[in-house]
This record gives sequence, C-alpha cells and structure tokens, in this order.
Amino acid sequence: RWPVNRTGFDSSSLTPACEPDVAPRSAGQPLWLLAELTYKCPLQCPYCSNPLDFSASGQELSTEQWVKVLREAREMGAAQLGFSGGEPLSRPDLNELIQEARQLGYYSNLITSGIGLNDQKLEQFRASGLDHIQVSFQASDEEVNNMLAGSAKAFKQKLKMARAVKANGYPMVLNFVTHRHNIDRIDRIIELCIELGADYVELATCQYYGWALENREQLMPSRAQLERAERITNEYRARLEAAGNPMKLIFVTPDYYEERPKGCMNGWGQIFLTVTPDGTALPCHSARQLPVQFPNVKDRSLEDIWYRSFGFNKYRGNDWMKEPCRSCDEKDKDFGGCRCQAYMLTGDAANADPVCSKSQHHGKILQARAEAEAPRDTPMTFRNERNSRVFCRSE
Ligand code: FES
Repeated sequence: RWPVNRTGFDSSSLTPACEPDVAPRSAGQPLWLLAELTYKCPLQCPYCSNPLDFSASGQELSTEQWVKVLREAREMGAAQLGFSGGEPLSRPDLNELIQEARQLGYYSNLITSGIGLNDQKLEQFRASGLDHIQVSFQASDEEVNNMLAGSAKAFKQKLKMARAVKANGYPMVLNFVTHRHNIDRIDRIIELCIELGADYVELATCQYYGWALENREQLMPSRAQLERAERITNEYRARLEAAGNPMKLIFVTPDYYEERPKGCMNGWGQIFLTVTPDGTALPCHSARQLPVQFPNVKDRSLEDIWYRSFGFNKYRGNDWMKEPCRSCDEKDKDFGGCRCQAYMLTGDAANADPVCSKSQHHGKILQARAEAEAPRDTPMTFRNERNSRVFCRSE
C-alpha cells in the first residue's frame, strides 16, 4: 500500500523495488534508535510526521520483539533511544521497555503528548530509569491547542504533566511545532516555557512530511512571520542569558526558506535507525513512503539489516547521486539533502532535494513560498484513522 498526497507526487503507480541485498557500503554505527512503539494516538495533529496510510500498518511488535530490537541495537553501538509513536504511552509495556533500556545502558527519552501520563507513571518511569521526557504542545493558547489536537482536555493535561515532569526531577524538553496559526504568539509560547521551567525548548517550524505535507498550504508561515518569530526568539535568548536563566531556546527554521538543503539524518544509514510499530526498519522516520522495500526486524537481525539490506545501502555514500549533486562541492556536507523530500516533491528520491537552489525542481519550493504569502482558507486534514483510510490503496 502506498500513500498519495495532494501536494506532492502521486506514487500510487509505482511498485516497490524488491531487490537483492548489496555489498555493504561505508556505514557508521546506528547511534540513535527511534522506537516508534505504536501509531495509536489520542490526538489528531494535522502536522504529524506519521505516514498518511498508518492505519494499514501491520501488527505491532510484541514486547519480546521490542526487547530484541533494543538489545541488538545496543550491541551495535546505539546509545540514544527515543520512545515515540503515535503516543508511546498507549503501549501497556512501556515501563518494561524503559527498564530494559536502562539495563542495557541507553540514554532514553520519552517523546509524548502528555496525554495518558499521570503522577504514578512518572514516578514508575523514573524508578525504571527513564532519563528524559519531551512533552509536545500544539500552542500556548488553550483554544488553538485543543483545536489542533482535537481534544478539549489536551491543554490542561499538558500543563499539569509538564509541571509534574519537572517536579519529578527529569530534564524536560518542551516542543512546540510552529506554523502560521501559532507562530505569531511566539512570545507567549516562550513565556509559558519559562513559567513551566523547561530546560530546552524546541521551537520547530513545521517540516513538511506526512500529514504536514498534506496540510502544507494551511500550515506554512509567511517569510515575515518567520523572521519576526526568529527575531523575538533571539531577543528572549539575550534576556534569558542576562537573567542567568539556563533555559535553551532552539529555533528550527523550515528548510523551505533555505537555499541549500539540510544534511538529512546526517546521511542515509549513517547514525539513525527507526523501527516502526510493525517492525519495519528504516534509515529515517519518513522513508516508508519510498518505493523501496525495507526489511523487517521480525525476519532479520538488526546487524544484517543495517549493513547488508538493500534499503539501508540504497542512498549511502555518493554513488547514487545524479547531477547537480554528483559534481557539487557541498555534497559531503549536505548529502544532496533529504531523500524523502526529493521523492515527495519530484517523484525520484535520487534527485537533489528541491530545497537546493541548484535543483531543477527548486521552483516547487518557490511556489510553496508564494502560496504562504497568499494563504487560502481551506480546511485542514486531521491525522486520524478515518482520514488515514482514504490514503490506503491496494497495490
Ligand atoms: Fe527521510 Fe530526510 S526524512 S531522508
């Protein structure tokens, strides 16, 4: 099954490449393991990076299968572990997996909406060895937050849980995905983070993958909105420093406003390894949509997958590159950008990421910027089971 989207390339006519394994190309160690435990989520954010057709995903891995993944990745050198989803709190075995992660020596991070969290779980997770919690907010205003989350109770619960996370002594990251509906309140967002005592604040302007690409027209801020938000963030940084407040503000500019692409994932199959709820192993969280057959941890060891599978070797190194990347003197810095973005916007993952002004498809980015200057009032598609089924097509 393959997703389609209205803003990108219709991939439904393609079949996945069922290709044999290849000799290993130069690969680093999978230092960062993202365990997407489940696609279940009580919220319905219209910028979720989960695949559009997540409802067609296969059966979730069992606890034993996840334990095997954690062990094998650790043996290969993985040190950072993110428990993500969907909402990872939806998995009843989360505490067991946290305990296993601690025993194996991971630095573990729970990436959560805070929905389903309570004081008892926070204490339990701390006793089990969870190192770090990231709570995501949709906005600093209750109304906007709850509208985007699709829950009337979400904002109050998030506030309560952010306070409880700090009270339990965890380092806390607050994550705000910013877009045209909340970016003008950046000052209020930062004030809220100060009030909650965040250690790190990610002001991450929406990146257009998954549901966010589907809703790009309704989400992308104008250049003026973005510049204002960055200026205010810099002013707050200076104020925090002067006041001796150690809170760190991380402002992530959307690559749609750049002229050179990001070195996505630090290179394909170099340090990032994602395992999806049904056990598909991916070099990044978005790669599932590519017309490439990716291996499953139910069938093969992680070591075999990382070093020898077709999917993990497909875009390693530089040999796969076409022009203008092949002869570009920046190719070792940005690796041609993001394979998923190249695929979503051009239909060929081996093309240069169109964010790059050298790409012949850069006009797509310029067009998106122009649309952001003159937004239309069209409804967003929320990430939920019902909408997901629309994107499921039989092969
Ligand atoms: Fe997949 Fe960039 S998100 S390579």
